[in-house]
Amino acid sequence: MRVAVVVGIAIGFWACAARPDPYLGSPSRGQMITHFDLALDARQHALFGELDDFRRVADELAQLEPADDLPAEIILQLGPMRWEAREASRARTVEEAASGASNIAATCGDCHAANGVPLGDRFTLGGPPPPGSPARHMAGLNWASRLLWDGLVGPSDRTWFTGAEGLKELGALPEGLPTDHDQNAVATMGARLRQLGDKATLARANRERVEVLADIWATCADCHTGPR
Ligand code: HEC
Ligand code: HEC
Repeated sequence: MRVAVVVGIAIGFWACAARPDPYLGSPSRGQMITHFDLALDARQHALFGELDDFRRVADELAQLEPADDLPAEIILQLGPMRWEAREASRARTVEEAASGASNIAATCGDCHAANGVPLGDRFTLGGPPPPGSPARHMAGLNWASRLLWDGLVGPSDRTWFTGAEGLKELGALPEGLPTDHDQNAVATMGARLRQLGDKATLARANRERVEVLADIWATCADCHTGPR
């Protein structure tokens, strides 16, 4: 019984893709978890180019009412996040969705930095799965993409640069990906991911990071949505 509970918790935690441990007694904890989950969904819909789902989730985030027990000054600071989410909910292309998801993540990081919340230190680095199949390679790319996102949300240089290095390496796409794109297109996208990984390792300013991450997710979405 006890083992089952522990395993259940471990799997639940893993499925949440490394959401950091809660601060005990934090007033905004429930709210942050809702933000976190919506922003995470927005990120995944953006990189799969799922525009309808992306717009729906961004709209939910824009409409999220602040928790009653949240301090007034923090409620005020929610404005930029909700504003970016509102913009994102109007995305018409995979590029706009990718940019929206990246801009939302930056507003999380801005507020954490402004409030001196050391969230970045609590994100785990983890690692990609061992190579072996296209799905494993993709799980590796997803890992790198998650770390880059953590880098903005934290904000955290540590996760940002680890994600950037991961992308440089895993941008070298394996042969035999089950996609309708021809080999040239796949090679071009792989080269672009590595180039963007390079750019990410050099990006210091927040603005640059937001842009490079948007370009990365637009490239993922380009392949995932198939030839147009
Ligand atoms: C208005 C300011 C603000 C915005 C915007 C904001 N956060 Fe936070 N966040 C905080 C503060 C303050 C804390 C720490 C204090 C607390 O938890 O009460 C926190 C804590 C967290 C935590 C840790 C919560 C816990 O379990 O203790 C997570 C996760 C989190 N934020 C994620 C996000 C994500 C993702 C976004 C963007 C979608 C975001 N936050 C946007 C202010 C903000
Ligand atoms: C050149 C094409 C291509 C690019 C670029 C690409 N993917 Fe994929 N991705 C695929 C294919 C094909 C699948 C389906 C793999 C399968 O079913 O085995 C996939 C599936 C996935 C999955 C689901 C894996 C699973 O089966 O559970 C994730 C997550 C993923 N990709 C993340 C990413 C991320 C993140 C990026 C960008 C950093 C990216 N992909 C870029 C082709 C691509």
